[in-house]
Amino acid sequence: MQWTVERKDAWETDADVVLVGLLEADKDAPFPKSLAADDARSGGALAAAWTRGEVRGKRGEITVLTLTGGTRRLLVFGLGKAERYGAEACRVAGGFVSKALRGKGGKVGAVRAASIAVRRLAVPDALAAFADGAELASYEFKRYKTTPRPAPLDNLVGALGKEHAAAAASVRKALDRQRLITDSVLWSRDIGNLAADTATPEFLAEQALSLGKEFGLKVTVFDEKQLEEMGCGGILAVGGGSTHHPPRMIAIEYAGKGARPPKTVALVGKGITFDSGGISIKPALAMAEMKFDKSGAVAVLATMRAVAQLKVAPRVVGVMCCAENVPSGTAYRPGDVVRTFGGKTIEVLNTDAEGRVVLSDGLSWVNATHKPNEIIDLATLTGACVVALGYDNAGLMATDDRLAAELLKASSASGEPLWRMPVTSLHHEMVKSEVADVRNSTESPPAGALTAAAFLSAFVGDTPWAHLDIAGTAYVSGAGARFAPPYNPGGFNGFGIRLLCRYLSGMG
Ligand code: BES
Ligand code: MN
Ligand code: ZN
Repeated sequence: MQWTVERKDAWETDADVVLVGLLEADKDAPFPKSLAADDARSGGALAAAWTRGEVRGKRGEITVLTLTGGTRRLLVFGLGKAERYGAEACRVAGGFVSKALRGKGGKVGAVRAASIAVRRLAVPDALAAFADGAELASYEFKRYKTTPRPAPLDNLVGALGKEHAAAAASVRKALDRQRLITDSVLWSRDIGNLAADTATPEFLAEQALSLGKEFGLKVTVFDEKQLEEMGCGGILAVGGGSTHHPPRMIAIEYAGKGARPPKTVALVGKGITFDSGGISIKPALAMAEMKFDKSGAVAVLATMRAVAQLKVAPRVVGVMCCAENVPSGTAYRPGDVVRTFGGKTIEVLNTDAEGRVVLSDGLSWVNATHKPNEIIDLATLTGACVVALGYDNAGLMATDDRLAAELLKASSASGEPLWRMPVTSLHHEMVKSEVADVRNSTESPPAGALTAAAFLSAFVGDTPWAHLDIAGTAYVSGAGARFAPPYNPGGFNGFGIRLLCRYLSGMG
Protein backbone atom coordinates (compact mmCIF):
# COMPACT_ATOMS: atom_id res chain seq x y z
CA MET A 1 0.00 0.00 0.00
CA GLN A 2 1.33 3.41 -0.99
CA TRP A 3 0.81 6.37 1.35
CA THR A 4 0.36 9.73 -0.30
CA VAL A 5 -0.72 13.19 0.81
CA GLU A 6 -2.99 15.65 -0.99
CA ARG A 7 -4.05 19.13 -0.02
CA LYS A 8 -7.60 18.58 -1.30
CA ASP A 9 -10.63 17.33 0.53
CA ALA A 10 -11.16 13.58 0.21
CA TRP A 11 -14.01 14.05 -2.29
CA GLU A 12 -11.77 16.12 -4.58
CA THR A 13 -9.20 13.32 -4.88
CA ASP A 14 -9.59 10.46 -7.35
CA ALA A 15 -10.28 7.99 -4.53
CA ASP A 16 -12.85 5.32 -5.17
CA VAL A 17 -13.57 5.14 -1.47
CA VAL A 18 -13.75 8.16 0.82
CA LEU A 19 -12.90 7.39 4.44
CA VAL A 20 -14.38 9.50 7.21
CA GLY A 21 -13.79 8.97 10.93
CA LEU A 22 -16.38 9.72 13.56
CA LEU A 23 -16.11 9.94 17.35
CA GLU A 24 -18.71 8.02 19.32
CA ALA A 25 -21.94 9.94 19.87
CA ASP A 26 -24.88 9.37 22.24
CA LYS A 27 -27.78 7.20 21.24
CA ASP A 28 -30.08 10.18 20.76
CA ALA A 29 -27.53 12.69 19.49
CA PRO A 30 -28.54 14.68 16.41
CA PHE A 31 -26.90 13.93 13.06
CA PRO A 32 -23.38 15.46 13.21
CA LYS A 33 -22.87 18.66 11.21
CA SER A 34 -19.39 17.50 10.20
CA LEU A 35 -21.04 14.81 8.05
CA ALA A 36 -23.46 17.13 6.21
CA ALA A 37 -21.39 17.28 2.99
CA ASP A 38 -20.90 13.52 3.01
CA ASP A 39 -24.61 13.02 3.54
CA ALA A 40 -25.34 15.26 0.56
CA ARG A 41 -22.98 13.14 -1.57
CA SER A 42 -24.80 10.04 -0.39
CA GLY A 43 -28.17 11.50 -1.33
CA GLY A 44 -29.34 11.36 2.27
CA ALA A 45 -28.41 7.71 2.79
CA LEU A 46 -25.95 8.56 5.57
CA ALA A 47 -28.46 10.57 7.60
CA ALA A 48 -30.98 7.76 7.11
CA ALA A 49 -28.46 5.24 8.44
CA TRP A 50 -27.89 7.56 11.38
CA THR A 51 -31.61 7.75 12.08
CA ARG A 52 -31.81 3.98 12.07
CA GLY A 53 -29.03 4.00 14.69
CA GLU A 54 -26.57 2.17 12.44
CA VAL A 55 -23.95 4.88 12.63
CA ARG A 56 -22.72 6.08 16.03
CA GLY A 57 -18.92 6.17 15.78
CA LYS A 58 -18.32 3.15 18.02
CA ARG A 59 -14.90 1.50 18.04
CA GLY A 60 -14.74 -0.96 15.14
CA GLU A 61 -17.96 0.32 13.54
CA ILE A 62 -17.84 0.47 9.73
CA THR A 63 -20.57 1.78 7.45
CA VAL A 64 -20.14 1.52 3.68
CA LEU A 65 -22.49 3.35 1.34
CA THR A 66 -22.30 3.05 -2.43
CA LEU A 67 -23.21 6.32 -4.06
CA THR A 68 -25.81 6.34 -6.77
CA GLY A 69 -24.71 7.23 -10.29
CA GLY A 70 -21.10 6.17 -9.97
CA THR A 71 -18.68 3.68 -8.52
CA ARG A 72 -17.55 5.74 -5.55
CA ARG A 73 -18.16 4.66 -2.03
CA LEU A 74 -18.30 6.39 1.30
CA LEU A 75 -16.94 4.54 4.33
CA VAL A 76 -17.65 6.00 7.76
CA PHE A 77 -15.63 4.43 10.56
CA GLY A 78 -15.94 4.69 14.33
CA LEU A 79 -13.17 6.26 16.40
CA GLY A 80 -14.63 5.19 19.73
CA LYS A 81 -15.12 7.31 22.82
CA ALA A 82 -13.80 10.88 22.66
CA GLU A 83 -12.15 10.72 26.08
CA ARG A 84 -10.12 7.67 25.01
CA TYR A 85 -9.17 8.99 21.60
CA GLY A 86 -5.50 9.32 20.70
CA ALA A 87 -2.82 7.80 18.46
CA GLU A 88 -3.65 4.23 19.48
CA ALA A 89 -7.41 4.57 18.86
CA CYS A 90 -6.56 6.08 15.48
CA ARG A 91 -4.22 3.15 14.67
CA VAL A 92 -7.00 0.73 15.65
CA ALA A 93 -9.44 2.59 13.38
CA GLY A 94 -6.97 2.35 10.49
CA GLY A 95 -6.76 -1.37 11.16
CA PHE A 96 -10.55 -1.89 11.10
CA VAL A 97 -10.89 0.14 7.89
CA SER A 98 -8.20 -1.85 6.16
CA LYS A 99 -9.77 -5.16 7.21
CA ALA A 100 -13.18 -4.00 6.00
CA LEU A 101 -11.81 -3.05 2.57
CA ARG A 102 -10.02 -6.30 1.87
CA GLY A 103 -11.45 -8.04 -1.15
CA LYS A 104 -13.88 -5.19 -1.86
CA GLY A 105 -12.16 -4.09 -5.06
CA GLY A 106 -11.08 -0.64 -3.89
CA LYS A 107 -7.85 0.76 -5.27
CA VAL A 108 -7.52 4.22 -3.81
CA GLY A 109 -8.86 5.26 -0.41
CA ALA A 110 -8.73 8.84 0.78
CA VAL A 111 -9.03 9.53 4.49
CA ARG A 112 -10.23 12.98 5.52
CA ALA A 113 -7.46 14.23 7.81
CA ALA A 114 -9.77 16.59 9.68
CA SER A 115 -11.95 13.65 10.73
CA ILE A 116 -9.14 11.84 12.55
CA ALA A 117 -7.03 14.77 13.75
CA VAL A 118 -9.51 15.45 16.52
CA ARG A 119 -9.26 15.98 20.28
CA ARG A 120 -5.55 16.40 21.02
CA LEU A 121 -4.21 14.34 18.13
CA ALA A 122 -2.22 16.50 15.67
CA VAL A 123 -2.58 15.89 11.91
CA PRO A 124 0.87 14.32 11.31
CA ASP A 125 0.45 11.94 14.27
CA ALA A 126 -3.10 11.05 13.23
CA LEU A 127 -2.19 10.19 9.65
CA ALA A 128 0.96 8.29 10.69
CA ALA A 129 -0.99 6.21 13.21
CA PHE A 130 -3.87 5.59 10.79
CA ALA A 131 -1.52 4.48 7.99
CA ASP A 132 0.46 2.32 10.43
CA GLY A 133 -2.72 0.56 11.56
CA ALA A 134 -4.06 0.14 8.03
CA GLU A 135 -0.78 -1.27 6.73
CA LEU A 136 -0.17 -3.63 9.66
CA ALA A 137 -3.75 -4.94 9.47
CA SER A 138 -3.34 -5.73 5.79
CA TYR A 139 -0.34 -7.97 6.50
CA GLU A 140 -0.60 -11.58 5.48
CA PHE A 141 2.05 -14.26 5.91
CA LYS A 142 2.06 -15.41 2.30
CA ARG A 143 4.93 -17.86 2.28
CA TYR A 144 2.92 -21.04 2.63
CA LYS A 145 -0.26 -19.88 0.87
CA THR A 146 -0.97 -20.99 -2.69
CA THR A 147 -3.41 -18.11 -3.20
CA PRO A 148 -2.67 -15.01 -1.16
CA ARG A 149 -5.61 -12.72 -0.34
CA PRO A 150 -6.11 -9.47 -2.27
CA ALA A 151 -4.70 -6.28 -0.73
CA PRO A 152 -7.27 -3.88 0.80
CA LEU A 153 -6.02 -0.84 -1.14
CA ASP A 154 -3.17 0.11 -3.48
CA ASN A 155 -3.00 3.65 -2.29
CA LEU A 156 -4.01 5.37 0.93
CA VAL A 157 -4.34 9.12 0.49
CA GLY A 158 -4.21 11.51 3.42
CA ALA A 159 -6.61 14.22 2.28
CA LEU A 160 -5.69 17.39 4.17
CA GLY A 161 -8.40 19.70 2.87
CA LYS A 162 -8.34 23.45 3.41
CA GLU A 163 -8.08 23.13 7.20
CA HIS A 164 -4.79 21.26 7.15
CA ALA A 165 -3.22 22.03 3.77
CA ALA A 166 -0.55 24.10 5.48
CA ALA A 167 0.63 21.02 7.39
CA ALA A 168 1.52 19.12 4.20
CA ALA A 169 5.28 19.18 4.76
CA SER A 170 5.11 18.00 8.37
CA VAL A 171 2.60 15.31 7.43
CA ARG A 172 4.92 14.00 4.70
CA LYS A 173 7.81 13.95 7.14
CA ALA A 174 5.80 12.02 9.74
CA LEU A 175 4.62 9.54 7.12
CA ASP A 176 8.14 8.98 5.76
CA ARG A 177 9.41 8.27 9.25
CA GLN A 178 6.46 6.00 10.05
CA ARG A 179 6.96 4.19 6.74
CA LEU A 180 10.47 3.08 7.76
CA ILE A 181 9.21 1.72 11.06
CA THR A 182 6.06 0.06 9.70
CA ASP A 183 8.08 -1.55 6.89
CA SER A 184 10.49 -3.03 9.41
CA VAL A 185 7.58 -4.46 11.39
CA LEU A 186 6.16 -6.06 8.21
CA TRP A 187 9.62 -7.35 7.34
CA SER A 188 9.99 -8.83 10.84
CA ARG A 189 6.66 -10.64 10.51
CA ASP A 190 7.88 -12.56 7.48
CA ILE A 191 10.76 -13.87 9.60
CA GLY A 192 8.96 -14.22 12.93
CA ASN A 193 6.21 -16.32 11.37
CA LEU A 194 8.59 -18.86 9.85
CA ALA A 195 8.50 -22.30 11.36
CA ALA A 196 11.49 -23.77 13.15
CA ASP A 197 12.44 -26.00 10.20
CA THR A 198 13.32 -22.85 8.26
CA ALA A 199 14.13 -20.23 10.86
CA THR A 200 17.10 -21.95 12.46
CA PRO A 201 19.87 -20.13 14.35
CA GLU A 202 22.00 -20.27 11.19
CA PHE A 203 19.15 -18.82 9.14
CA LEU A 204 18.77 -15.92 11.57
CA ALA A 205 22.51 -15.31 11.32
CA GLU A 206 22.24 -15.17 7.52
CA GLN A 207 19.37 -12.69 7.80
CA ALA A 208 21.50 -10.50 10.06
CA LEU A 209 24.47 -10.69 7.69
CA SER A 210 22.43 -9.68 4.66
CA LEU A 211 20.79 -6.90 6.66
CA GLY A 212 24.26 -5.67 7.58
CA LYS A 213 25.26 -5.58 3.90
CA GLU A 214 22.11 -3.78 2.86
CA PHE A 215 22.22 -1.05 5.52
CA GLY A 216 25.91 -0.77 6.35
CA LEU A 217 25.80 -2.35 9.80
CA LYS A 218 28.64 -4.33 11.30
CA VAL A 219 27.46 -7.89 11.92
CA THR A 220 29.40 -10.55 13.81
CA VAL A 221 28.21 -14.13 14.03
CA PHE A 222 29.65 -16.35 16.73
CA ASP A 223 29.36 -20.05 15.91
CA GLU A 224 29.60 -22.89 18.40
CA LYS A 225 33.40 -23.02 18.18
CA GLN A 226 33.77 -19.34 18.94
CA LEU A 227 31.14 -19.51 21.67
CA GLU A 228 33.20 -22.27 23.26
CA GLU A 229 36.36 -20.14 23.14
CA MET A 230 34.48 -17.18 24.59
CA GLY A 231 33.08 -19.25 27.44
CA CYS A 232 29.42 -18.84 26.47
CA GLY A 233 28.35 -22.03 28.23
CA GLY A 234 24.72 -20.93 28.53
CA ILE A 235 23.95 -20.68 24.82
CA LEU A 236 26.00 -23.82 24.19
CA ALA A 237 24.12 -25.80 26.84
CA VAL A 238 20.67 -24.85 25.53
CA GLY A 239 21.69 -25.36 21.90
CA GLY A 240 23.53 -28.59 22.64
CA GLY A 241 20.50 -30.82 22.18
CA SER A 242 20.10 -29.91 18.54
CA THR A 243 22.51 -31.97 16.50
CA HIS A 244 21.44 -30.32 13.23
CA HIS A 245 20.88 -26.70 14.14
CA PRO A 246 23.76 -25.45 16.28
CA PRO A 247 23.44 -22.23 18.31
CA ARG A 248 24.58 -18.78 17.23
CA MET A 249 25.13 -15.50 18.98
CA ILE A 250 24.74 -12.59 16.59
CA ALA A 251 25.86 -9.01 17.21
CA ILE A 252 24.68 -6.14 15.00
CA GLU A 253 26.22 -2.70 15.44
CA TYR A 254 24.85 0.65 14.38
CA ALA A 255 27.51 3.31 14.94
CA GLY A 256 25.23 6.20 15.94
CA LYS A 257 24.91 9.67 14.52
CA GLY A 258 27.95 11.89 14.16
CA ALA A 259 31.45 11.46 15.53
CA ARG A 260 30.38 11.33 19.18
CA PRO A 261 27.02 9.62 19.70
CA PRO A 262 25.36 10.59 23.01
CA LYS A 263 25.23 7.04 24.39
CA THR A 264 25.37 3.35 23.62
CA VAL A 265 22.23 1.28 23.99
CA ALA A 266 22.41 -2.51 23.94
CA LEU A 267 19.37 -4.52 22.81
CA VAL A 268 19.43 -8.22 23.64
CA GLY A 269 16.85 -10.67 22.28
CA LYS A 270 15.89 -14.23 23.17
CA GLY A 271 16.12 -16.26 19.97
CA ILE A 272 14.93 -19.77 20.76
CA THR A 273 13.98 -20.99 17.29
CA PHE A 274 11.97 -23.79 18.85
CA ASP A 275 11.27 -24.39 22.52
CA SER A 276 10.21 -27.98 23.11
CA GLY A 277 11.24 -27.58 26.73
CA GLY A 278 14.18 -29.93 26.17
CA ILE A 279 14.51 -32.86 28.60
CA SER A 280 11.94 -31.07 30.81
CA ILE A 281 9.63 -31.44 27.82
CA LYS A 282 6.46 -29.40 27.36
CA PRO A 283 2.98 -30.90 26.91
CA ALA A 284 2.02 -31.33 23.24
CA LEU A 285 -0.72 -28.72 23.20
CA ALA A 286 1.53 -25.81 24.12
CA MET A 287 4.36 -26.76 21.83
CA ALA A 288 3.46 -25.67 18.29
CA GLU A 289 3.43 -21.99 19.15
CA MET A 290 6.95 -22.27 20.53
CA LYS A 291 8.22 -21.48 17.03
CA PHE A 292 7.52 -17.92 18.23
CA ASP A 293 10.06 -18.27 21.04
CA LYS A 294 12.52 -16.36 18.83
CA SER A 295 10.33 -13.23 18.94
CA GLY A 296 12.69 -11.16 21.10
CA ALA A 297 15.63 -11.77 18.76
CA VAL A 298 13.55 -11.04 15.66
CA ALA A 299 12.34 -7.79 17.24
CA VAL A 300 15.97 -6.81 17.90
CA LEU A 301 16.92 -7.65 14.31
CA ALA A 302 14.10 -5.56 12.84
CA THR A 303 14.76 -2.68 15.24
CA MET A 304 18.36 -2.56 14.00
CA ARG A 305 17.01 -2.45 10.45
CA ALA A 306 14.76 0.51 11.28
CA VAL A 307 17.35 2.31 13.40
CA ALA A 308 19.89 2.23 10.56
CA GLN A 309 17.42 4.01 8.29
CA LEU A 310 16.06 6.40 10.90
CA LYS A 311 19.68 7.29 11.72
CA VAL A 312 18.95 7.67 15.42
CA ALA A 313 21.48 9.50 17.59
CA PRO A 314 22.68 6.76 20.00
CA ARG A 315 25.02 3.96 19.12
CA VAL A 316 22.97 0.76 19.19
CA VAL A 317 24.27 -2.79 19.58
CA GLY A 318 21.79 -5.59 18.97
CA VAL A 319 22.51 -9.08 20.26
CA MET A 320 20.50 -12.14 19.28
CA CYS A 321 20.92 -15.25 21.44
CA CYS A 322 19.84 -18.07 19.16
CA ALA A 323 19.46 -21.76 19.91
CA GLU A 324 17.03 -24.62 19.40
CA ASN A 325 15.88 -26.21 22.64
CA VAL A 326 15.21 -29.89 21.94
CA PRO A 327 15.81 -33.14 23.84
CA SER A 328 18.44 -35.62 22.65
CA GLY A 329 21.44 -37.52 23.91
CA THR A 330 23.50 -34.35 23.71
CA ALA A 331 20.91 -32.12 25.39
CA TYR A 332 21.64 -30.38 28.68
CA ARG A 333 19.97 -31.97 31.70
CA PRO A 334 18.24 -30.89 34.89
CA GLY A 335 20.98 -30.89 37.53
CA ASP A 336 23.73 -29.70 35.18
CA VAL A 337 25.76 -26.66 36.15
CA VAL A 338 26.85 -24.42 33.29
CA ARG A 339 29.50 -21.68 33.28
CA THR A 340 28.52 -18.54 31.37
CA PHE A 341 30.51 -15.73 29.74
CA GLY A 342 32.41 -13.93 32.48
CA GLY A 343 32.41 -16.97 34.77
CA LYS A 344 29.10 -16.94 36.64
CA THR A 345 27.54 -20.37 37.03
CA ILE A 346 23.95 -21.53 36.61
CA GLU A 347 22.37 -24.58 38.18
CA VAL A 348 19.90 -25.96 35.65
CA LEU A 349 16.83 -27.27 37.43
CA ASN A 350 14.49 -27.13 34.46
CA THR A 351 15.66 -27.23 30.85
CA ASP A 352 12.44 -25.44 29.87
CA ALA A 353 13.67 -22.29 31.65
CA GLU A 354 16.15 -21.92 28.78
CA GLY A 355 15.54 -18.31 27.77
CA ARG A 356 17.29 -16.90 30.81
CA VAL A 357 20.17 -19.30 30.23
CA VAL A 358 20.89 -18.07 26.68
CA LEU A 359 20.33 -14.45 27.72
CA SER A 360 22.90 -14.75 30.52
CA ASP A 361 25.67 -14.99 27.92
CA GLY A 362 24.26 -12.27 25.66
CA LEU A 363 23.76 -9.81 28.51
CA SER A 364 27.14 -10.30 30.15
CA TRP A 365 28.96 -10.40 26.80
CA VAL A 366 27.51 -7.12 25.54
CA ASN A 367 27.98 -5.48 28.92
CA ALA A 368 31.66 -6.44 29.10
CA THR A 369 32.64 -5.85 25.48
CA HIS A 370 30.56 -2.83 24.47
CA LYS A 371 30.22 -1.03 27.82
CA PRO A 372 26.70 0.15 27.02
CA ASN A 373 25.09 3.00 28.98
CA GLU A 374 21.94 0.94 29.17
CA ILE A 375 20.69 -2.53 28.27
CA ILE A 376 17.18 -3.46 27.13
CA ASP A 377 16.29 -7.09 26.61
CA LEU A 378 13.22 -8.60 24.96
CA ALA A 379 12.18 -12.18 25.58
CA THR A 380 9.16 -14.46 25.42
CA LEU A 381 10.44 -15.48 28.80
CA THR A 382 7.67 -16.82 31.02
CA GLY A 383 4.19 -18.28 30.91
CA ALA A 384 3.83 -16.60 34.30
CA CYS A 385 3.91 -13.20 32.62
CA VAL A 386 1.00 -14.26 30.39
CA VAL A 387 -0.91 -15.38 33.49
CA ALA A 388 -0.21 -12.07 35.22
CA LEU A 389 -0.81 -9.61 32.38
CA GLY A 390 -2.50 -11.45 29.52
CA TYR A 391 -2.12 -10.54 25.88
CA ASP A 392 -1.99 -6.76 25.77
CA ASN A 393 0.65 -5.56 28.22
CA ALA A 394 4.22 -6.79 28.22
CA GLY A 395 5.97 -7.00 31.58
CA LEU A 396 8.57 -4.32 32.25
CA MET A 397 11.17 -4.97 34.94
CA ALA A 398 13.86 -2.34 35.31
CA THR A 399 16.70 -1.39 37.60
CA ASP A 400 16.57 2.21 36.48
CA ASP A 401 13.58 4.53 36.94
CA ARG A 402 14.49 6.96 34.17
CA LEU A 403 14.86 4.15 31.63
CA ALA A 404 11.58 2.60 32.79
CA ALA A 405 9.74 5.93 32.57
CA GLU A 406 11.02 6.66 29.05
CA LEU A 407 10.10 3.21 27.83
CA LEU A 408 6.62 3.57 29.30
CA LYS A 409 6.20 6.89 27.48
CA ALA A 410 7.42 5.46 24.17
CA SER A 411 5.16 2.45 24.55
CA SER A 412 1.97 4.37 25.18
CA ALA A 413 2.60 6.42 22.03
CA SER A 414 3.38 3.35 19.91
CA GLY A 415 0.41 1.35 21.15
CA GLU A 416 2.54 -1.40 22.67
CA PRO A 417 1.67 -1.18 26.34
CA LEU A 418 4.09 -2.12 29.10
CA TRP A 419 3.27 -2.66 32.74
CA ARG A 420 6.05 -2.24 35.24
CA MET A 421 6.43 -5.02 37.78
CA PRO A 422 8.51 -5.14 40.96
CA VAL A 423 11.62 -7.26 41.36
CA THR A 424 12.31 -7.44 45.09
CA SER A 425 15.02 -8.86 47.33
CA LEU A 426 12.75 -11.86 47.84
CA HIS A 427 12.97 -12.70 44.14
CA HIS A 428 16.76 -12.29 44.17
CA GLU A 429 16.85 -14.64 47.17
CA MET A 430 14.67 -17.19 45.38
CA VAL A 431 17.08 -17.64 42.45
CA LYS A 432 20.16 -18.29 44.62
CA SER A 433 21.53 -21.80 44.24
CA GLU A 434 23.10 -24.19 46.76
CA VAL A 435 25.68 -25.40 44.26
CA ALA A 436 26.09 -22.52 41.77
CA ASP A 437 25.72 -18.74 41.65
CA VAL A 438 22.11 -18.83 40.48
CA ARG A 439 19.51 -21.46 39.58
CA ASN A 440 17.29 -21.26 36.54
CA SER A 441 14.08 -22.32 38.26
CA THR A 442 12.53 -22.30 41.71
CA GLU A 443 10.51 -25.01 43.44
CA SER A 444 7.59 -22.67 44.03
CA PRO A 445 5.62 -21.36 41.07
CA PRO A 446 4.53 -17.88 42.30
CA ALA A 447 5.99 -14.75 40.68
CA GLY A 448 7.61 -16.67 37.84
CA ALA A 449 8.03 -13.57 35.68
CA LEU A 450 9.78 -11.79 38.54
CA THR A 451 12.14 -14.56 39.56
CA ALA A 452 13.09 -14.84 35.87
CA ALA A 453 13.90 -11.11 35.88
CA ALA A 454 15.83 -11.45 39.14
CA PHE A 455 17.88 -14.18 37.49
CA LEU A 456 18.70 -11.96 34.47
CA SER A 457 19.72 -9.06 36.69
CA ALA A 458 22.68 -11.15 37.87
CA PHE A 459 24.22 -10.72 34.40
CA VAL A 460 24.01 -6.96 33.79
CA GLY A 461 26.30 -5.67 36.52
CA ASP A 462 25.50 -2.06 37.47
CA THR A 463 24.44 -1.04 33.98
CA PRO A 464 20.93 0.46 33.89
CA TRP A 465 18.77 -2.32 32.55
CA ALA A 466 15.20 -2.96 31.46
CA HIS A 467 13.69 -6.34 30.67
CA LEU A 468 10.56 -6.73 28.53
CA ASP A 469 8.78 -10.04 28.99
CA ILE A 470 6.85 -10.28 25.72
CA ALA A 471 5.53 -13.84 26.16
CA GLY A 472 1.90 -12.65 25.98
CA THR A 473 2.29 -9.89 23.38
CA ALA A 474 4.76 -11.20 20.78
CA TYR A 475 2.25 -13.22 18.78
CA VAL A 476 -1.46 -13.88 18.41
CA SER A 477 -2.67 -17.44 18.45
CA GLY A 478 -5.67 -19.50 19.51
CA ALA A 479 -7.69 -17.87 22.26
CA GLY A 480 -5.90 -14.55 21.91
CA ALA A 481 -7.20 -13.94 18.37
CA ARG A 482 -10.63 -12.76 19.53
CA PHE A 483 -9.11 -9.97 21.59
CA ALA A 484 -6.23 -8.85 19.39
CA PRO A 485 -6.30 -5.34 17.89
CA PRO A 486 -7.11 -5.36 14.14
CA TYR A 487 -3.54 -4.42 13.23
CA ASN A 488 -2.28 -7.69 14.74
CA PRO A 489 -3.97 -10.10 12.32
CA GLY A 490 -2.54 -13.31 13.77
CA GLY A 491 0.86 -14.92 14.22
CA PHE A 492 3.97 -12.90 15.00
CA ASN A 493 3.22 -9.22 15.75
CA GLY A 494 6.62 -7.58 15.90
CA PHE A 495 5.90 -6.26 19.39
CA GLY A 496 8.58 -3.90 20.67
CA ILE A 497 9.96 -2.64 17.35
CA ARG A 498 7.79 0.48 17.21
CA LEU A 499 8.35 1.32 20.85
CA LEU A 500 12.12 0.86 20.66
CA CYS A 501 12.27 3.01 17.51
CA ARG A 502 10.40 5.76 19.34
CA TYR A 503 12.59 5.42 22.39
CA LEU A 504 15.84 5.43 20.40
CA SER A 505 14.70 8.43 18.34
CA GLY A 506 14.24 10.33 21.59
CA MET A 507 10.52 10.55 20.93
CA GLY A 508 9.31 9.00 24.16
N1 BES B 1 9.18 -19.87 26.09
C1 BES B 1 8.67 -20.20 27.36
C2 BES B 1 7.73 -19.13 27.91
C3 BES B 1 6.43 -18.94 27.19
C4 BES B 1 5.29 -19.57 27.63
C5 BES B 1 6.34 -18.06 26.13
C6 BES B 1 4.09 -19.35 26.99
C7 BES B 1 5.15 -17.85 25.49
C8 BES B 1 4.01 -18.49 25.92
C9 BES B 1 9.81 -20.35 28.36
O1 BES B 1 11.00 -20.82 27.85
C10 BES B 1 9.36 -21.33 29.39
O2 BES B 1 9.16 -22.46 29.04
N2 BES B 1 9.24 -20.88 30.63
C11 BES B 1 8.82 -21.68 31.69
C12 BES B 1 9.71 -21.39 32.86
C13 BES B 1 9.59 -22.38 34.00
C14 BES B 1 10.04 -23.74 33.55
C15 BES B 1 10.41 -21.89 35.16
C16 BES B 1 7.37 -21.34 31.99
O3 BES B 1 6.99 -20.19 31.87
O4 BES B 1 6.62 -22.25 32.30
MN1 MN C 1 11.05 -22.93 27.78
ZN1 ZN D 1 11.33 -20.45 25.86
